[in-house]
Amino acid sequence: MSLSVDAVDIKKRIESCKNLQDVEGIRLEYLGKKGLIPSEMKLLGKLSFDERKLKGQELNKLKSLIEDAIDNQKTFIENAEIEIKLKNENLDVTLPQIEKTNGKIHPISQTIFSIIEIFGNLNYSVEAGPDIESDFNNFSALNIPPHHPAREMQDTFYVKNNDGEDNVLRTHTSPVQVRTMLKTKPPIKIIVPGRTYRSDSDSTHTPMFHQVEGLVVNKDATMADLKSTLITFLKEFFEIDNLKYRFRPSYFPFTEPSAEMDVAFTKKNNVLKIGEGDDWLEILGCGMVNPKVLENCNIDSSVYQGFAFGMGIERLSMLKYGITDMRGLFDVNIKWLDHYGFSPLDLRNRAEV
Ligand code: PHE
Repeated sequence: MSLSVDAVDIKKRIESCKNLQDVEGIRLEYLGKKGLIPSEMKLLGKLSFDERKLKGQELNKLKSLIEDAIDNQKTFIENAEIEIKLKNENLDVTLPQIEKTNGKIHPISQTIFSIIEIFGNLNYSVEAGPDIESDFNNFSALNIPPHHPAREMQDTFYVKNNDGEDNVLRTHTSPVQVRTMLKTKPPIKIIVPGRTYRSDSDSTHTPMFHQVEGLVVNKDATMADLKSTLITFLKEFFEIDNLKYRFRPSYFPFTEPSAEMDVAFTKKNNVLKIGEGDDWLEILGCGMVNPKVLENCNIDSSVYQGFAFGMGIERLSMLKYGITDMRGLFDVNIKWLDHYGFSPLDLRNRAEV
């Protein structure tokens, strides 16, 4: 007994298929569960030993022939499809490669996140205020009256409001001290990260920059609390346990007494190493809230006292992440961001909680 099909015919049929569905149709017809080969296999049991052996071999040969032909034709059709796609795509190989731009977290944002995280652990809450401020909030309430020399020190951008009065782009985050004291009763314990503006532009100054303000008002805040808070913060922020620092007497109209805090550094081969050495870098201004400021904000200075501090976020970022040119921070250069930025999922850059 011999098969009613001719292997050459089947092969030709397979090779004339133009698409994968047609190939699949032929596969089912011969190799599928109810296809010719399995059906014939089932009948083998009824044959004599010799016939079974012969037909079995014949069927196996046919089966592998069909399988091979199907595989070849599938590859042929797939390649042809790719060929057509490529032809229609009109690929211009002279175009520059499109760079992968996933975007990253800017070092300034990363710095603000870690400042909030550290002060959050010290039970500070976060406050915010507008970039455009009244003269009262930015200056007068902070004991900087008109014509006070401190106003000239701060190269203010003035903006007129609808009534022709002068508003300012806030020159520091300190006006948010005033806003908070006017709207909440002590105890107050806040930080205020935000944008600030001064008409100043060179390699170490940009007209827009960031500060973080701190304010604590209660019945017993002391200069010692202020110092230990700032030391704790800077050690955590720079991740240096034996950070070398110093407090220097200074002057701000809104704090009395006032101080500035410096951190030691060394510079070797143009690389800044923070926390040790004999050179000093100014990091922040601070002091006990001037009783006049408390009174300007309707807080009884015979009952309450407080401390405040303010620091520049750009400087903190540059020192922590080894950024040398401040202008890079605001150049909007994706390559720069790719180098200095942080992946949203990069847990190594988060303080441990
Ligand atoms: N506002 C001050 C500045 O911009 C910093 C400061 C804040 C100083 C709070 C003392 C207390 O330089």
